[in-house]
Amino acid sequence: MSGYIQRAEHIIGRIDELAAISEQDSGITRRYGTGAAVSAGDKVLAWMREAGLTGRKDAIGNIRGRLDCGNPAARTMVIASHIDTVVNAGKWDGPLGVLVGLDLLEQVIRKGKIFPFHIELIAFCDEEGVRFHTTYLGSKVVAGSFEPELLERRDEEGISLREAVEAIGGRPDELDSEAIGDGRWLGYFELHIEQGPVLYERKVPVALVKGIAGQVRAEVVFTGMAGHAGTVPMIMRQDALCGASEFVLGAEELAGGEGSGLVATVGKLEVRGGASNVIPGEVVCSVDIRSADAGVLERGHERLRLLAEEIGSRRGLGVQWKVVQATAPVDGDERMNKLLGESIEAAGYPVLELVSGAGHDAVPVSAVSPVSMLFVRCYKGISHHPLEDVEKGDLAAAIAVAEIFVDRLTEI
Ligand code: HGY
Ligand code: MN
Ligand code: MN
Repeated sequence: MSGYIQRAEHIIGRIDELAAISEQDSGITRRYGTGAAVSAGDKVLAWMREAGLTGRKDAIGNIRGRLDCGNPAARTMVIASHIDTVVNAGKWDGPLGVLVGLDLLEQVIRKGKIFPFHIELIAFCDEEGVRFHTTYLGSKVVAGSFEPELLERRDEEGISLREAVEAIGGRPDELDSEAIGDGRWLGYFELHIEQGPVLYERKVPVALVKGIAGQVRAEVVFTGMAGHAGTVPMIMRQDALCGASEFVLGAEELAGGEGSGLVATVGKLEVRGGASNVIPGEVVCSVDIRSADAGVLERGHERLRLLAEEIGSRRGLGVQWKVVQATAPVDGDERMNKLLGESIEAAGYPVLELVSGAGHDAVPVSAVSPVSMLFVRCYKGISHHPLEDVEKGDLAAAIAVAEIFVDRLTEI
């Protein structure tokens, strides 16, 4: 294990180097297309090239390092995760998978190992979707499912995704050419922190990801009547914020039923033209709905939409409900997961199977490739928070499991 501990220490050093690259002075924020995101990408690209990979930045800004097996007809195994972050993020969500992948390939190259397939390490440029409220921009390009209309999406400053891609030297009209074509994939493997408390509670370092929950992200606009806070009687108000607040608490109650298998979150809420002496006339909120079960997700989405409608009609508010993003639940590939389970056993760890409530780049890739994910325990399951952390021993365990797994990929 000592070799793995040393490799884990080297990876931790790189995790910390990336963590120092942020849009803000304190905390970690690297949204798509910002200077911080570009600098982090450049650093990962340099590491890939130092390792001996053929490194490049693709048309949307993914960082891609390829280990070609010499046979043009061979398929490609992708090892990947993302290097963009949420606002005030932790340092492991995304970079863990990229940097363990880099470590594995450094060892492959050092040992002169040749696989009968190509291996491509990818640092995706936008998994979180913070800036344009659309997740998986980078992995959709590689999976060939990028919708061109996304280029017209605008961020809070009114900059379009097309402009943002061009601003970093990307080529928005060449995105199609960056896909790994259908049938060219051998598989996709992603290591990621669990971002939940199960491994921490069960004191187990790794888990196999059985599946990934489906999600619906919507934007809801409540429209009432702005008015003077001092003169309009309470009974005569159409207060958009009171309506939105009732929806927020109603969503919590609706999803909160024990064993509902549903989660719902209002993460953003904005009073348009808000002022302390004005009755809120228009409120916009996000709603994030998830379930590992497609039926539960569909029914939950419909019930939440009807809840907003009911509140609106009772309070005399207009309600607009716009679905921004919807992805179905994804299953891990049976054959790859069998191999991964055997690799966990071979490394001497119990095999736990978890469903991921968090979305991952494996979601769009699953449409064109078998996918498999390995979860790594993180401190109290905390994520999307500066306290996010991974113990060195758990990182060493994950490297050991992943190395056995990659060696056995010749069997799939
Ligand atoms: O929101 C998520 O599930 C992930 O962090 N992108
Ligand atoms: Mn992530
Ligand atoms: Mn995340």
